[in-house]
Amino acid sequence: MNTKKVLLTRMFPEIGAELLKSACFSVTAWNEDRPMTQEELIENSRMHDAIFCTMTEKLDKHFFKECSHLDIISQFAVGYDNIDIEEATRLNIPVGYTPGVLSEATADIAFGLMIATSRKFVHLHKKIIKGQWNYFRPNADLGIEIKNKTLGIYGLGRIGTEMAKRCIGAYNMKVIYHNRKRNLKAERDLQAEYVDFPALLARSDVLSIHCALNSQSQGVFNKDAFRQMKPTSIFINTSRGSVHNETDLIEALRTGTIWGAGLDVTNPEPMLPDNPLLEMDNVTVLPHIGSANVETREKMARLAAENIIEFYKNKQVPHIINPQVLRNK
Ligand code: GLV
Repeated sequence: MNTKKVLLTRMFPEIGAELLKSACFSVTAWNEDRPMTQEELIENSRMHDAIFCTMTEKLDKHFFKECSHLDIISQFAVGYDNIDIEEATRLNIPVGYTPGVLSEATADIAFGLMIATSRKFVHLHKKIIKGQWNYFRPNADLGIEIKNKTLGIYGLGRIGTEMAKRCIGAYNMKVIYHNRKRNLKAERDLQAEYVDFPALLARSDVLSIHCALNSQSQGVFNKDAFRQMKPTSIFINTSRGSVHNETDLIEALRTGTIWGAGLDVTNPEPMLPDNPLLEMDNVTVLPHIGSANVETREKMARLAAENIIEFYKNKQVPHIINPQVLRNK
């Protein structure tokens, strides 16, 4: 077991490589500050038994055709839409991930985006830079109050729960949600009310997206959905950009169909600097930094390393997306 070779596809927090090395794995780390091209990824993966990767790596059918030998894939992220899980499962390759440890950090970003957007932080900061802070103007630059309003959550799981807790604690918000499966714990602990999708759209003052990207959530927030939202509502997305249709979002904001938007994820990523959203006064955009604090990223690296170590040691993967493959190990 001790001679297994692990490829770290990016520059991850050191603790990941340290844990692997102290468990006697042979570790190779890609040490350029850019993702590998698909060819580089395949070429390097071919020489390893396991890969420790993240969202920037595209593990599609072509990848699996070339790298069907892998023992395990350990994803440094909670989302895994970059990986063809069906194909990995067909090839009997376990795929680990890092849920839980990044929920609070990501909810902080959703909560921060809500406040920043509702009070136009970024737009007003840009005005100062342009020398446009002239005098106090009682009727200008007005935001929207959040207190006692309704928070709608699309995909109320671990991260959505943390967002709800923040919104209840800080602003006494009423929580409504729409999920594929009811979240009875959240209904009990947060008095969250389950509603159907049209009611979520119609009733939310702040609508925050916390679902995984899959064929059901792809493009759900489109022209038709925005039309059903309140003109005073704020749309927050910290999950995946493909859950919203960005052209429709731009149009909804331009026409006042909704009031504002706070995005940590965009469609496509990276967002191009000439995107009209960046010029709008009620929009805040961040470059997909939900889990980006020192402590959280270290916890993610630790979990991703432990998934590999436990697999080789005990044929267990503590955090796994396709547990059915372990039955055949
Ligand atoms: C970040 O987007 C993640 O999925 O961890």
